[in-house]
Amino acid sequence: MFRVGIGFDIHRLEKGKKLVIGGVEIPSEYGFKAHSDGDIFFHALTDALLGAVGYGDIGQLFPDTERKWENTPSRVFLEEANRIINEKGYSVLNIDGFIVIQRPKILPYREKIIQNTAEILNIEPERVFIKGKTYEKIGEVGEGKAAFAEVVVLLKKE
Ligand code: CDP
Ligand code: ZN
Repeated sequence: MFRVGIGFDIHRLEKGKKLVIGGVEIPSEYGFKAHSDGDIFFHALTDALLGAVGYGDIGQLFPDTERKWENTPSRVFLEEANRIINEKGYSVLNIDGFIVIQRPKILPYREKIIQNTAEILNIEPERVFIKGKTYEKIGEVGEGKAAFAEVVVLLKKE
């Protein structure tokens, strides 16, 4: 009846790249170095959805060794994961996650990230939550060289 899923993703940050999180382009000097757009939140969420139904993982479905997925907007991965869970009769009860990035602040973009996610998954925005955290300047994440996201999802079989 209920299934829980968990997802994690990390990408390096580099000067001059785009910072896309939850489908929102956030103004920043540093952005993700990645095969796709490096959207850590959508990647972690995609893995959480796929994991919840025991389907597989993001790297199996969309190998970063395939040119086909180069520069693919991560919403494509998320749409496919949603299609898979729906096909198995599941829908999302709620999503909660955190994004660990030393800077910039995620808070001003939270509503937009929630809206994007809800729209892609075809659910009410009230079912989605995320929060940003710093890494208290500890290690490489704290120095702004990388950022990561962790997401938990709860699914219900209709
Ligand atoms: O206060 P504490 O050490 O627990 O957390 P923090 O990492 O210093 O972040 C304080 C607050 O700033 C968070 O609760 C978020 O509301 C916000 N924040 C954010 O929106 N984006 C970040 N990248 C970091 C923090
Ligand atoms: Zn990723």
